[in-house]
Amino acid sequence: MASYVGFLLLLFMVAKAMDVSYDGRAITFDGKRKILFSGSIHYPRSTAEMWPSLIKKAKEGGLDVIETYVFWNAHEPQYRQYDFTGNLDLVRFIKTVQNEGLKAMLRIGPYVCAEWNYGGFPVWLHNIPGIEFRTNNPQFENEMKNFTTLIVDMMNHEKLFASQGGPIILAQIENEYGNILSSYGDDGKQYVDWCANLAQSYQIGIPWVMCQQDNAPDPMLNSCNGFYCDQFYPNSQNKPKMWTENWTGWFKNWGGQIPHRTAEDVAFAVARFFQFGGTYQNYYMYHGGTNFGRTSGGPYITTSYDYDAPLDEYGNLNQPKWGHLKKLHEVLKSIEDVLVHGHRRDVDYGNMVTATIYNYGGKSACFLGNANNSYDATINFQNNQYNVSAWSVSILPDCQQETYSTAKVNVQTSVLVKKENEGADNDDESYNLNWHWRNEPFQQMKNGKLVGNVALSAPQLLDQKVVTNGTSDYLWYITSVNVDDNDDNIWTKKDVKLKINTNGHVLHAFVNGKHAGSQYAQNGQYQFSFETDVKLKGGDNEISLLSATVGLPNYGAFFDNVEVGIGGPIHLVTHDESGDEVVKNITQNVWNYKIGLHGENVKHYDNKNTLGWFTTGLPTDRIFTWYKTKFNSPIGNDPVVVDLSGLGKGQAWVNGNNIGRYWPSYLADENGCSPTCVFRGAYTSQKCVTGCGKPTQQWYHVPRSFLNDDEENELVLFEEMGGHPFNVRFSTVTIGKICANAYEGNTLELSCNQDQVISEVKFASFGQPQGQCGSFKKSQCEAPNTLQNLKDQCLGKSSCSVLISEKSLGSTGCNVEQNRLAVEAVCAATVSNYAKKKK
Ligand code: GAL
Repeated sequence: MASYVGFLLLLFMVAKAMDVSYDGRAITFDGKRKILFSGSIHYPRSTAEMWPSLIKKAKEGGLDVIETYVFWNAHEPQYRQYDFTGNLDLVRFIKTVQNEGLKAMLRIGPYVCAEWNYGGFPVWLHNIPGIEFRTNNPQFENEMKNFTTLIVDMMNHEKLFASQGGPIILAQIENEYGNILSSYGDDGKQYVDWCANLAQSYQIGIPWVMCQQDNAPDPMLNSCNGFYCDQFYPNSQNKPKMWTENWTGWFKNWGGQIPHRTAEDVAFAVARFFQFGGTYQNYYMYHGGTNFGRTSGGPYITTSYDYDAPLDEYGNLNQPKWGHLKKLHEVLKSIEDVLVHGHRRDVDYGNMVTATIYNYGGKSACFLGNANNSYDATINFQNNQYNVSAWSVSILPDCQQETYSTAKVNVQTSVLVKKENEGADNDDESYNLNWHWRNEPFQQMKNGKLVGNVALSAPQLLDQKVVTNGTSDYLWYITSVNVDDNDDNIWTKKDVKLKINTNGHVLHAFVNGKHAGSQYAQNGQYQFSFETDVKLKGGDNEISLLSATVGLPNYGAFFDNVEVGIGGPIHLVTHDESGDEVVKNITQNVWNYKIGLHGENVKHYDNKNTLGWFTTGLPTDRIFTWYKTKFNSPIGNDPVVVDLSGLGKGQAWVNGNNIGRYWPSYLADENGCSPTCVFRGAYTSQKCVTGCGKPTQQWYHVPRSFLNDDEENELVLFEEMGGHPFNVRFSTVTIGKICANAYEGNTLELSCNQDQVISEVKFASFGQPQGQCGSFKKSQCEAPNTLQNLKDQCLGKSSCSVLISEKSLGSTGCNVEQNRLAVEAVCAATVSNYAKKKK
């Protein structure tokens, strides 16, 4: 019997195993060509509890594949010490993808870039003698092989490759090496071959990809990354046209503004890619998420990695982007057969207007594309007239009727709002958090002796990451300077300057236990010179310098060798009696190195630790201060954020979980924002930004799973630069209002969150309404009862569908090709829902 069951099981598994391969048109499953929509969701940028819902929403959005990198330094933070728990549980993530019925692409790297600390490399790797990264170097290749093998074995063991019946259909080795190959010469070329051979040697039965790698050797697939990839062609006619990173927005830097990429432009880029023969496309990111802890790279990548992706940082639908792309996926899927098999013919209309016709088995499908950024074209195509507006693609699944235009958004825009936590204290009216505090000591020597654990001492200034091995943002450089104690000593009598050259990113200087000044790198210049007046005394003087990094670099040739921390020289400068400069060069003094803050090392963020906190005399605007408070979990299921405005820079923990670095005092440039975003014309990350003059990041994600339901929760802040905690608030993120400006002939779906209803319809006009969400205006022609009509259909409901036609909404009297329905409505939690939640 047992063997019979075993046989059945085997049969089941063999039956499910799939042959994933490719030809010159597409990725094939058991020989069948498919078009595939994929989206990046990086598992450590959310929590395991969030994964099922993120993946479900990706599936509803029309994705077939979830793509993720594998993050080496998260899994092997110390040499041969591994972590695959919590949100690092890669197997659980891939199985969650599988449970939703989706496929996976595993980009092992293990170099990943990704705005992730040190591009995914563990810092200990840098400290291996003789190592050179990403080139033909035995030490590096040995470690890369070790980690890659570990991941491949793990997936194999869990039967997660498609060849074993699992969801993983594609794997990637390295990442965009083609961008930097030339800097590595012949060794670089050999390394490319070595990578390809390593990948092939695993025999995992699915294709491997090398993205941005024109010279990827067969059978490795080479693919394109960028905002547009329609002009990309693979390096062999036997490989499909693949786009592994369609950047749906962009990341943020501390001190920078917030980039947005419109739904129309992302859709345009995708539609053009499929118009010109593409069959595999991945959104980078589909859900960007959060750089928890110290995982963000850069330097200066923010904690939020929202990316303006179709799912926002917290997992909400980013509408209209999510919905506009969902509709695009549906249309393209409806013509899949023709696209993957059909004969393609392009007809050039001039002015960057091109019609493309695919024919297959008596069926045809057409695209009308206009890549001109200002000229709205009217073309005669197969005896019909079509308007193809600037920077748009129209899709005609039957080559006659336009069913989708990238420039016409027929889905709602959701405006998300932060709702203050009503559960903050007993009195709903006020928001009183009770703060405790303590100092982070900055005096490092007492009676000429060093306090605490010195990691090492050396007569030179060392690269910060070499000393910390990546275990903390903070490193103390401590030395003692002896000054003659006689009456006419210029060092004690005259003004003295301390001059430091550092490789960044932040420096705090202390002399004899007193703060002498702080400075941080700005405008992308991470090396800087710091200068301050100091007072020396006769005898020994303590010079203690705290250097802080804000994410290690993750991109560029040899980025791994970029030094951080204090590189020197360090000079003390005064003047002699005749006014001539006298310099004491202390660069080669004996420097003592202490890794991390005292509070980090003794875990002030761990709520078991209650001793030594003060309850009165709360300091503000004071560097090196720990703050802590208790708070109740916000009620309901909406995502939770904490407002840290008022604070300077530091790190925050909730119930012992590091929710990331914060830096709300760093304001973005005042200039360059505009209230609207023009989608026409090639996108760049500076094209369309908001947040001018505001903190780059004010709100910080507190995943629900970090919170205790009924118990009290604890927030701990390490404030490095000085600020105050009086504005700290916990809020939930929910839909405030929804808007639409959708075209006749479509069904408009309006929806609030599940536990909300449409409580008010503020504006509705069917005809030729003008303006934007929030300032819509009626025009001369409109169907008379539209507002009442919408109220009847939608008020009090969580969602409603409205057919946009004269038949259902009434005659508009406008003499136009297509009318539009503009709506602005309010979403609100129902009283009964609120009461339910409170219980
Ligand atoms: C690509 C890289 C990604 C990410 C992206 C920008 O070059 O492959 O990992 O860094 O740029 O977000």
